[in-house]
Amino acid sequence: MTRTAHHRRYLMCRPEHFTVSYTINPWMEPANPTDTAKAVSQWQVLHDLYLELGHEVELIDPVEGLPDMVYTANGGFLIDGVAYGPKFRFRERQGESGPFIDWFRTHGFDTREPVEVNEGEGDFLLVGDTILAGTGFRSTDDSHRELREIFGREVVSLTLTDPRFYHLDTAIAVLDPVEGVEKGGPAHATIAYLPSAFDDASQRILAERYPDAIHVSDEDGAVFGLNSSSDGYNVIISPRAKGFERQLRERGYHPITVDLSELLLGGGGIKCCTLELRS
Ligand code: ARG
Repeated sequence: MTRTAHHRRYLMCRPEHFTVSYTINPWMEPANPTDTAKAVSQWQVLHDLYLELGHEVELIDPVEGLPDMVYTANGGFLIDGVAYGPKFRFRERQGESGPFIDWFRTHGFDTREPVEVNEGEGDFLLVGDTILAGTGFRSTDDSHRELREIFGREVVSLTLTDPRFYHLDTAIAVLDPVEGVEKGGPAHATIAYLPSAFDDASQRILAERYPDAIHVSDEDGAVFGLNSSSDGYNVIISPRAKGFERQLRERGYHPITVDLSELLLGGGGIKCCTLELRS
């Protein structure tokens, strides 16, 4: 089937203060040295690729002492010009909420302050008109209700069970923003996911809603293969996710690899560094 690239507007944050100085996910080991210059140059490759693909990239200023701010996916969730602000689970990241919320406000978004703990697009993914919402490690069930109240859309809660895949965007990749078009055919593949990252009930929901989804191998999941970004045709993935790369090609997508090995030391990848600004 023919795939179409859709124009995107993203928010990114240059990892000028990137380091691993605390542990809030199993990937983070403060004893391992980090190389901030390398993080910046790897990040730059992703940034420049978005521009080459014709997308727009906005930047938020990095703040010293907030090393995880590079993972802008956690900075909010935005649809139709409405920005739902983040409320971070761990104290170490709570200082990021203010800068993100201020950024949305000063850039003309109808900005909503969160009451409930939520980590933005790290846990909330828009597929067609539906919001898939993760819980289990970071965002709470109550945030799913808040999300529903703010956006008035269908919210489907999914429970993550493997601590390595603590945000929904580490276990599901949205490949095609348009749900329903030629849906049902084996070639459609709206989403890709790692079944073993979810509890049984969530696996059943995913199997039923997305019978044509790509199931990635545990091996590809474990190298953050799903933490990718798609415009509907070009899918930017980790060079380590070999099987996923093949699966994408088979379904008519165009995988492009970008290595963010340094940012993986903080437990984040391509999608984590990318927040979609839907205005
Ligand atoms: N160190 C960050 C944390 O644990 C990584 C966030 C990754 N972001 C994501 N969208 N998965 O919060």
